[in-house]
Amino acid sequence: MKISFCCTDFKAEPWLAGLRAALPQAEIEVWTPGAPAADYAVVWAPPQAFIDEQPNIKAVFNLGAGVDALTQLKLPPQMKLVRLDDAGMSVQMAEYVVHALIRHFREFDHYERDVVQGKWSYRRPRLREEFPVGIMGLGVLGQRVAQAVAQFEFPVLGWSRSPKTVDGVRCFAGAAQLPEFLAETKVLVCLLPLTTETQGILNRTTLAQLQPGGYVINVARGAHLVEEDLIELLDSDHLAGAALDVFRQEPLPAGHPFWRHPKITVTPHTAARTLRDESVAQIAQKIMRLERGEPIAGVVDHIRGY
Ligand SMILES: NC(=O)c1ccc[n+]([C@@H]2O[C@H](COP(=O)([O-])OP(=O)(O)OC[C@H]3O[C@@H](n4cnc5c(N)ncnc54)[C@H](OP(=O)(O)O)[C@@H]3O)[C@@H](O)[C@H]2O)c1
Repeated sequence: MKISFCCTDFKAEPWLAGLRAALPQAEIEVWTPGAPAADYAVVWAPPQAFIDEQPNIKAVFNLGAGVDALTQLKLPPQMKLVRLDDAGMSVQMAEYVVHALIRHFREFDHYERDVVQGKWSYRRPRLREEFPVGIMGLGVLGQRVAQAVAQFEFPVLGWSRSPKTVDGVRCFAGAAQLPEFLAETKVLVCLLPLTTETQGILNRTTLAQLQPGGYVINVARGAHLVEEDLIELLDSDHLAGAALDVFRQEPLPAGHPFWRHPKITVTPHTAARTLRDESVAQIAQKIMRLERGEPIAGVVDHIRGY
């Protein structure tokens, strides 16, 4: 069995060592143009040439949960794309969102600023019932985040494409229920995949429907957000702030207004990192299942785009 590794931004050696240890029967090499076609591939943002050179590939494993870099390529419709399915990401995402939410709710950002000035000051406690948290995307990551947020007794709402029942979460589905979901949300968390339907979904019209004093946590993809619209709503005080982990252009360019905006907290696309051991174990297990003719989770639907 031949496995090609074609991952921009990943140091190949430790991944090859991990994959070789997990699949000793396989020949695993870094892809170079013109290399023999593979049976399986492990990829992150591969070039079109890589796809074009794989006529009989059995599955392409993406080293992330979001497959938008792959779906932008011209893909044969029968090509089986498999995304990472948690693999240690959901608990990291829960940490990130709960941290951003509580930092905002308890006003720890203000305390941090006061402390720098040597100021001993109290802020009035706020009511968590007045901070309903709405999670866009109730998939692997969204549901784990919902569970973590509910632990802190915030009201939790969720919005997905198809109707869902999730313990402790008021669920909304589809475009028709989006306005009601937004109107009842104060802290909005985006955990949607980036598709043609969700691109630009955080815009002037949708964000204006959040409760006054709303807060936006975007941990999905930069292209979900219309950046100018966010700034406008922050500057007009409809929104109280935003925690942003992902951006239209990454790294966020020097001089971009988000770096210095007093209501925006920026992190460098680090909310949920791809963990090597967990990812290798998951991919190896799925390859073995496919070899035995068994079904696997995390297969991307080309039409839905996630
Ligand atoms: N910042 C980071 O470090 C980081 C790390 C990992 C992942 N991510 C991002 O997180 C995203 C989510 O990952 P995941 O594993 O949770 O994905 P997932 O399991 O595929 O879940 C996606 C969720 O979004 C919903 N959805 C998709 N299209 C929709 C639409 N048009 N309208 C309403 N809901 C829609 C789906 O609805 P259904 O349930 O009805 O299908 C599902 O609930 C990834 O795509 C990636 O972009 C970011």
